[in-house]
Amino acid sequence: MSTYLQTVETVYAEAATNPDATLCCTESPVWNLPDLRVPPIMLQMNYGCGSTVNPRDLRPDDTILYVGVGGGLEALQFAYFTRRSGGVIAVDPVAAMRDKAQANFLEAAKINPWFRPEFVRVLDGNALKMPVESNSVSVAAQNCLFNVFMQADLEQALAEVIRVLRPGGFFATSDPITPVALPEEFRADEIARARCLSGCQSFDDYLATLVNAGFGRIDVRARVPYRLVTPQEYPSLSEAVLLESVEVVAYKVPDSFDGPAIYTGRMAIYGGPEVTFADDSGVELPRGIPVAVSDAAAVRLARNPVIVVTGATYQARAGGCC
Ligand SMILES: C[S@@+](CC[C@H](N)C(=O)[O-])C[C@H]1O[C@@H](n2cnc3c(N)ncnc32)[C@H](O)[C@@H]1O
Repeated sequence: MSTYLQTVETVYAEAATNPDATLCCTESPVWNLPDLRVPPIMLQMNYGCGSTVNPRDLRPDDTILYVGVGGGLEALQFAYFTRRSGGVIAVDPVAAMRDKAQANFLEAAKINPWFRPEFVRVLDGNALKMPVESNSVSVAAQNCLFNVFMQADLEQALAEVIRVLRPGGFFATSDPITPVALPEEFRADEIARARCLSGCQSFDDYLATLVNAGFGRIDVRARVPYRLVTPQEYPSLSEAVLLESVEVVAYKVPDSFDGPAIYTGRMAIYGGPEVTFADDSGVELPRGIPVAVSDAAAVRLARNPVIVVTGATYQARAGGCC
């Protein structure tokens, strides 16, 4: 195993034993769902940088693979929707973290009558080689783990996600991103990488890596400030950098008419004389009604003078025409 991956495991073994509220977490409130009570220890161990859970996405018959269990906060939230043994499969190579998550699920069961610890099956496993059969899950998720991987390992982890997802399934993912190329010396800082600070990609590279992995549709759900890293803390930086974090859902579906479809919240609104605008790409725009369109479709449709196209909000929702 590469030394940096060992460092990652050491950092998280320590974070399992001594919860560290400064590790990774952002101001992302957990879902306030009826009858869902989150044990305080899970909140202290919120090592995510966004949310990968969204009630709009989830169905009771989903089988959900969660990579990098942490304190179990998101696995519990996913289990809220599946509510059956093994409905959520959580994979983590760090024994101390798996043990802590299991203990936290026991705590969760004491205060949530609907929950049983076996609703989350915790497996010893690695994102780079997952102990899960091909085409066996409808949902995969990871929060603030994949950014720690070097590019070749990141591509391997994404290939694993594509392998285990059923056709039509989706990958909910959240990671920090950087607005500038980070200095090599900072990128080589294994502790900063393990703490989700120095391994991150640019927004465009993050999406391109998902596209290259084979996802045919990508929705950018959120993009928010994450962490200001400064030369005072990290002398290998020449200036402060404001990292953001993104929440993205990537679907294992074929490409659209325009190629892989990236949705960043852009809308197209037809204002012409017909009741509906339609063209060869499959686009259908009822007059006056905003319809979500991919960035590529937005560029194409904006050439039509009777179609108004709005800008990116980074709050795409599932749906849309093209
Ligand atoms: C930043 S924490 C995120 C935890 C959780 N996703 C959350 O939102 O709180 C990273 C998690 O990934 C686990 N991990 C570390 N290396 C891993 C690997 N190669 N494959 C899978 N999980 C790994 C760590 O033990 C830890 O639980």
